[in-house]
Amino acid sequence: MTSDLRDSIRSIPDYPKPGIMFRDITTLLGDARAFRRAIDELVQPWAGTKIDKVAGMEARGFILGGAVAHQLSAGFVPIRKKGKLPHATVSIAYSLEYGIDEMEMHEDAIAPGERVILVDDLIATGGTATGAVSLLKRIGAAVEAACFVIDLPDLGGAQKIRDLGVPVRTLMEFA
Ligand code: PRP
Ligand code: ADE
Repeated sequence: MTSDLRDSIRSIPDYPKPGIMFRDITTLLGDARAFRRAIDELVQPWAGTKIDKVAGMEARGFILGGAVAHQLSAGFVPIRKKGKLPHATVSIAYSLEYGIDEMEMHEDAIAPGERVILVDDLIATGGTATGAVSLLKRIGAAVEAACFVIDLPDLGGAQKIRDLGVPVRTLMEFA
């Protein structure tokens, strides 16, 4: 591998709002070697460990989380934006770098005590991941770790997740 994984991320100023530097992973996903390398690096600490479920946040966490689940021979659990899941749900309102929203997961998606890894493309303020961790804990999951391709450390999200007692794995930072 010659290029750095960072080089596969595209940065777009003022999207979706003025002042936001959007870190776009579609360029990483479209590069077969970069996509494989990102998944291999995300799962590396859990190779050979029993992980029951991978939970991924809509929408970009579905792409990465599905691949991570396959690699770990784990099930996949979607955490969706409000109103998209057909069965009984648990839900929580949350805020993120550029707005507020509400997320849900099926209340029976994970059995109490199952070992779960949370996956998303990026952590910024940590609002999305904090909401996801509290949903997972509410249904009794053992949250082993939260993994992200990108950390925006200046926004403090990864530290918030560590402060909840959940180890965080990230592959790169953008200051
Ligand atoms: C983005 C990103 C994370 C979240 C991070 O998702 O994929 O889920 O923001 O921000 P935070 O740490 O400040 O909460 P977004 O809600 O834009 O959804 P999308 O994947 O559907 O575009
Ligand atoms: N989600 C929250 N902040 C983001 C950013 N700066 N780039 C891409 N996704 C994000």
